Amino acid sequence: MAFGGNEHERERWNHPGFASGWRRREGLSEATTDALLRRAALVPGERVLDIGCGSGPSTLAAARAVAPSGTVVGVDFSEPLLEAARQRVAAAGAGGVSFVLADAETASIDAAPFDAAVSQLGVLFFADSVAAFANVGRQLVAGGRLTFSCWQPAEANPWHVAPLLRRFATSDDNHAQGAAAGSGPGPFRFGDPAVPEQILADAGFVDISRDEIRAVARLPRSAAYDSSMLLAVGVPEERAAEAEEAVASYLERYRASGDEYDLPLAYAIWSAARR
Ligand SMILES: C[S@@+](CC[C@H](N)C(=O)[O-])C[C@H]1O[C@@H](n2cnc3c(N)ncnc32)[C@H](O)[C@@H]1O
Repeated sequence: MAFGGNEHERERWNHPGFASGWRRREGLSEATTDALLRRAALVPGERVLDIGCGSGPSTLAAARAVAPSGTVVGVDFSEPLLEAARQRVAAAGAGGVSFVLADAETASIDAAPFDAAVSQLGVLFFADSVAAFANVGRQLVAGGRLTFSCWQPAEANPWHVAPLLRRFATSDDNHAQGAAAGSGPGPFRFGDPAVPEQILADAGFVDISRDEIRAVARLPRSAAYDSSMLLAVGVPEERAAEAEEAVASYLERYRASGDEYDLPLAYAIWSAARR
């Protein structure tokens, strides 16, 4: 199978430790599902592409929105997350859903063209974002809608503990740093709205608009911190205990009760249409 120029990200999302750690944190991405789906305004019968679908939370939500006659294809380059997505959809008994293991940056999807594409935090890791969004556009009908969620800057998302962990690490990895807006692949690369706006325009999208959303999500502590993050951030084993203690003490301010934390989130929902 051919993959694009983003081998590093593909390896990260296929790493068993990173992928299983992400499963414990994905409550964060699911906190954006309702707003994403509202904005996407899917209707029964539509054909939908879910980009970077991961374990499929938005794929399933989209499938429910287009049922009974619509179809949804989830594309992701992570085998472990796609396996989890298949299980999620089977457990829900949802019809009309299929998955493709491919790099969304370059892949032509067999079931194209789609009426709409959605992505829940799945468009933040491309090597060449303009090329990737142009490729997404080619999978859509003329006028087809694209809707995606992304994080506002790291400073507006205090649940993001990677900068704290970095004090114990030597890595300059983008995930660790919370990648400044406009820089390489990473969760906060679209924190500056000027960046995705330009990318979407350069990739041939029109009617570009953005909703800024702030919300508090009640989630277990593992949504903000999982020990697999030590690996991602590059915290050496001898400093792991110290780093974990610092995170636990920092997150205490958000604890609601027991293992429930009220995490303040700041994200954006972008929408655009293919020219
Ligand atoms: C932050 S996770 C979001 C996953 C899922 N959408 C969710 O809401 O839980 C990002 C996802 O995008 C996928 N991804 C990143 N770049 C990709 C690419 N170029 N092609 C396909 N999948 C990609 C990753 O494998 C991962 O599953």
